[in-house]
Amino acid sequence: AVIRLSEYAAPSYAVAGVALSFDLAPTGTTVRADLKIERSAGQTGPLTLDGEALDLKSITIDGQPLGDNAYTVTETGLTLADAPSKFTLTTEVLIDPVENTRLEGLYQSNGIFCTQCEAEGFRRITYFPDRPDVLSTYRVTVRGSKDVCPILLSNGNLVEQRDLGDGRHEAVWEDPFPKPSYLFALVAGKLDSYEDTFTTMSGRKVDLKIWVEPGNAPYCAYAMDALKRSMKWDEDRFGLEYDLDIFNIVAVSDFNMGAMENKSLNVFNAKYILADPETATDADYANIEAIVGHEYFHNWTGNRVTCRDWFQLSLKEGLTVFRDQEFSADMRSRAVKRIQDVRMLRARQFPEDAGPLAHPVRPESYMEINNFYTATVYEKGAEVIRMQHALLGEDGFQKGMKLYFERHDGQAVTCDDFVAAMADANGRDMTGFKPWYSQAGTPKVTASWRHDATSKTLTLTLTQATEPTPGQKQKQALPIPMRMGLVGSDGKPCNLILDGQDLGAETVLMLDEDSLTCVFEGVDNAAVPSLNRGFSAPIVLKAPYSAAESILLMGHDPDPFARWEAGQQYATALLLGMVADLREKREPVLDEGFIAAFGRILTDSSLDPAFRSLAITLPSEDYLAEQMRPVAVDEIHEARQRLRKAIGETLSRDLSRLHAELADDGRFDPGADAAGRRALRNTALIYLGAAETPEAVTLAKTRYDIADNMTDRMAALAVLTECAGPEREAALADFHDRFKDDEQVMDKWFAIQAMSGLPDTLDRVKALLDHPRFSMKKPNKVRALIGSFAMGNPIRFHAADGSGYDFVIDKLIELDRLNPQVAARLLGTFGQWRRLPADRARLMKTALERLAETEGLSRDSTEIATKSLAG
Ligand code: ARG
Ligand code: ZN
Repeated sequence: AVIRLSEYAAPSYAVAGVALSFDLAPTGTTVRADLKIERSAGQTGPLTLDGEALDLKSITIDGQPLGDNAYTVTETGLTLADAPSKFTLTTEVLIDPVENTRLEGLYQSNGIFCTQCEAEGFRRITYFPDRPDVLSTYRVTVRGSKDVCPILLSNGNLVEQRDLGDGRHEAVWEDPFPKPSYLFALVAGKLDSYEDTFTTMSGRKVDLKIWVEPGNAPYCAYAMDALKRSMKWDEDRFGLEYDLDIFNIVAVSDFNMGAMENKSLNVFNAKYILADPETATDADYANIEAIVGHEYFHNWTGNRVTCRDWFQLSLKEGLTVFRDQEFSADMRSRAVKRIQDVRMLRARQFPEDAGPLAHPVRPESYMEINNFYTATVYEKGAEVIRMQHALLGEDGFQKGMKLYFERHDGQAVTCDDFVAAMADANGRDMTGFKPWYSQAGTPKVTASWRHDATSKTLTLTLTQATEPTPGQKQKQALPIPMRMGLVGSDGKPCNLILDGQDLGAETVLMLDEDSLTCVFEGVDNAAVPSLNRGFSAPIVLKAPYSAAESILLMGHDPDPFARWEAGQQYATALLLGMVADLREKREPVLDEGFIAAFGRILTDSSLDPAFRSLAITLPSEDYLAEQMRPVAVDEIHEARQRLRKAIGETLSRDLSRLHAELADDGRFDPGADAAGRRALRNTALIYLGAAETPEAVTLAKTRYDIADNMTDRMAALAVLTECAGPEREAALADFHDRFKDDEQVMDKWFAIQAMSGLPDTLDRVKALLDHPRFSMKKPNKVRALIGSFAMGNPIRFHAADGSGYDFVIDKLIELDRLNPQVAARLLGTFGQWRRLPADRARLMKTALERLAETEGLSRDSTEIATKSLAG
């Protein structure tokens, strides 16, 4: 069944209060729910509660048992034929946490009871109107064995605790803030805690606890530090303060996604909490900081103000991603963070927007809401917030946020309500901006310009167009804020004079029709437009830069993002040219000017090392694939390998020197500066490895052996894993023996082998399925081995004989029966079949059809498969 935004109807009943009590047992947990239900004014008709996989044991209204005719139970819920207008409904159900391999609702992760309710998991715990616009206060009693569950947690404050005598105990939790059911959480088990406190700006002392599997407390220091910095930052930048005396985080091994913002009881995938230098890379540290921040920031943007319905998911996710991006930018390098975010947007969201699963930031329909926790809703959603921030400025944006909370604290609202608060707080009409929420597809902006020496003018023309997407044939022009400047041929910024007005060195043009022409005056040399600085709008820009113009911007653009971008676009043009050569069986031309420009950035010590590392990294194979139809999978790989090799060879002296110069001083520091030096140093190592000299292998081997942190160890291992030979096998075996007892590090070991470009990769991946550490029931393992192969190894996944496709589809059919949510997520990659050359397209489509025809396929996978085949 398809759920539509246009069919939204307000709930017919309110739930004024919820009392839950859990008697925890692994295969038979009893859940009793007392719901204070009130019919909403003007509503009539039966009352339907959602419920799935529940075994109903008893049901009463105001304490009176119900006759069999008074209610009906189906696979999806419970209906009361004529319920009174105000009553207490009491149900008792039996659920099975151990059997719950979907990891939605109440399940066990390594013996720990935990819950995941967003989006619709609460209905697997008890009968309830499981929709985000039904807000209630919760009182939760948890009973369990003192042995198996010494720790019993739920949302809010601990109000009672007692021994039950029979080896069991109970804890009672009360959450004073009304919340929708998706924010409910319960955790119970043997857990250690890492504790600290934070005093808020008004002087409230908050107890902070991170709960982990026994023995893991020493790995929580960085996450705790990130939490305290998040709390402080939200006060400083947004004026938002924490609202309870306790804040708990629990890290569990088995989790469908990154983390979850349950009120005062965040639950995390352990990989985004646990870290120490020997087991976590710098990227892991940065992710921990970002995700701890993200979930904490949800307390206001998501929990205090929540979503009216799931179509509004970006109301909380886009806004909270924007907030976590800003947090990381303030903690680290703003330019580097922006580049990383844009890379991620291009890698994940642009392909989505250009494929069969394209949907607007606020989707209009879905079959399974779990399929809409997408890069579009999250990352493009954050760009849509960022553009409003740019339009209104920091002060105007903060005024809008203030009004948003004044109006909507404690409510479930829509994206329109958010834009209205921004508009009203600033006295602006923002109606024209709203199509960014409702129109799918990435606008393509074409730029052209002409300098006229006589009139000293530069005429710039920008034109926009958006390709049709499934279900949206007609596209309209969107308001595109284009931050730009002009860089003179001498490398100096020019002043922008438009209509006689001097705008200074930078301005924001608003392209809100199909096309816009601007005549800049007083431009006395052939200046080069620097466009979409800081990635001011989420668009694809087509601009006819010559090699010399790209080099000018790479070296002189005052905007660091634009400098990086100039290098990326230059590299893209060069690589696509090489791909064309390879396809025509011509020897590809390696552009020396390009390599020299890369070399200048590499050695420019005035630039931040982290920036240099990004600036000399070539666009990914997937990004290049996005730029051509049909995708020349093998030639893209070949061209990129050749260019990397040429860079490694040509710049080998600088690379070796840098590699030596950037050596650590011994003490590990996870901060951005030290991480930036490691990044540049390892990028140098990887280029030296790409040159495939025997010295490089020796260097990587030494680096591997002496590494005192995971970033360096992984970089060395990545080089070795790409070189067939004894060094490779020895390093992989050593890594395995060192870390075989560490769940998270083993994920890295699985992933690095699954991403290897060597020809035996698929056989290795198949063999690794039988490794004792691998399990189809553990999402992190599935993502590390099968996900990395399908998404991080284009050359092997797209093997010409279709073996990669068949393998992944076989596994997804198996996984769909265990965990449909994770299966559907990995399946999305099969939507790209149309972009491939005919042979591969047919093989990929056939594999996808085989899955689509599988009996009993989940709603999750069915939606992705049908849309991918049709779109
Ligand atoms: N709200 C969580 C977060 O962004 C993610 C929940 C994902 N849920 C899902 N069904 N995929 O932080
Ligand atoms: Zn979120």
